[in-house]
Amino acid sequence: MTTSLLITGGAGYIGSHALVEFLAAGHRPIVVDNFVNSSPEVLRRVEMLSGKRVEWHQGDVRDAALLERIFAGARESGAPVDAVVHFAGLKAVGESVAQPLVYHDNNVNGSIVLLQAMEKAGVSRIVFSSSATVYGEPLTLPYTESHPLAPTNPYGNTKAMVEAILADWCRAKAGRTAINLRYFNPIGAHESGRIGESPRGTPNNLFPFITQVAVGKRDKLTVFGDDYPTPDGTGVRDYLHVSDLAVGHVKAVEYARGGEYGWMALNLGTGKGTSVLDLIRTFEAVTGLSIPYEVVARRPGDVAQMWADAGAASQVLGWRAARSLEEMCRDGWGWQSGNPDGYTS
Ligand code: NAD
Ligand code: WQD
Repeated sequence: MTTSLLITGGAGYIGSHALVEFLAAGHRPIVVDNFVNSSPEVLRRVEMLSGKRVEWHQGDVRDAALLERIFAGARESGAPVDAVVHFAGLKAVGESVAQPLVYHDNNVNGSIVLLQAMEKAGVSRIVFSSSATVYGEPLTLPYTESHPLAPTNPYGNTKAMVEAILADWCRAKAGRTAINLRYFNPIGAHESGRIGESPRGTPNNLFPFITQVAVGKRDKLTVFGDDYPTPDGTGVRDYLHVSDLAVGHVKAVEYARGGEYGWMALNLGTGKGTSVLDLIRTFEAVTGLSIPYEVVARRPGDVAQMWADAGAASQVLGWRAARSLEEMCRDGWGWQSGNPDGYTS
């Protein structure tokens, strides 16, 4: 039987790259996105890139009636939804501190409404966009999935809460599967340079800040602290290519369709740590550009270093990050240089 896949937040940075990989692997995705942090232009680009049409609906995951219509439409078309990949969410840590209720409503309530609609439609598999931020301050590194969860901000709390809700949901009835993918730091863009990350306003994250300096939109990068207990004093993270992360979702859905597994969490990272200065130097070497920077005080809430134990995803899903830091820089620059203003270019 042909089946469909519901992708919430499919027009976003990670969702759009996943969409390309799902289409390439022959899946039938249906996107729902309210475009609060993206635009329909993303989906037009995905269609051009993949040479396939994508069914999409503009709307909110908190709109139960819309979800019900989407599930019913897929069933009537002969390709019922049998799995959901849930990217839709807000992700700016600072904004979540200022507006916690907005984050809890969107991320937690949005997930509950989605699960209620899934129950009604008889859909029992979900792959959820969790984050390494659920671990908080590392007690041991690399983080394994059994590291205690202690998020340090409202955004991280929403991710840990949805993971807990999914655990309760799986325990309540046999046959349900929830795969919580804990992403480390996705960067870069599709190798075509046609889709990529398009932050609104000042980027919160390091890599889009670097590419905006490179393209001349910003004068210089500020490096948040060079006095951490790390080899060069700057923060260390586990950066992974967004297309590798995207492939992880295809593997997760294919795995989930093969059985009934209940709840599980899997880290998606490379297992390697890279400092801020390492990333700047690699970007400079790959592009031949120079990235001026100034060291300023530490950013409140940042951990010194973190990276993944990526062994479980490899064992369970047969997934490993394949692309190098150089490829992340090359492809991220390919996107930014070809689209200086992102999707409004
Ligand atoms: P993004 O903002 O680019 O994508 C999220 C998409 O969801 C956007 O297209 C947005 O318009 C949509 N959306 C938000 N709220 C919605 C709602 N209520 N209804 C319908 N659509 C809604 O972010 P991203 O970087 O692609 O992240 C995707 C997911 O992965 C998020 O849940 C995020 O928290 C999680 N995540 C991201 C990172 C990262 O570094 N980018 C790391 C860990 C986890
Ligand atoms: C990386 C390193 C900074 C910006 C955040 C969220 C996390 C997850 C991914 C969703 C750190 C340094 C940064 C800058 C800098 N998102 N930095 N100058 O903090 O690991 O994670 O995004 O789940 O929840 O917290 O990523 O890219 O912001 O920072 O020096 O202008 O770069 O201090 O060491 P982070 P990041």
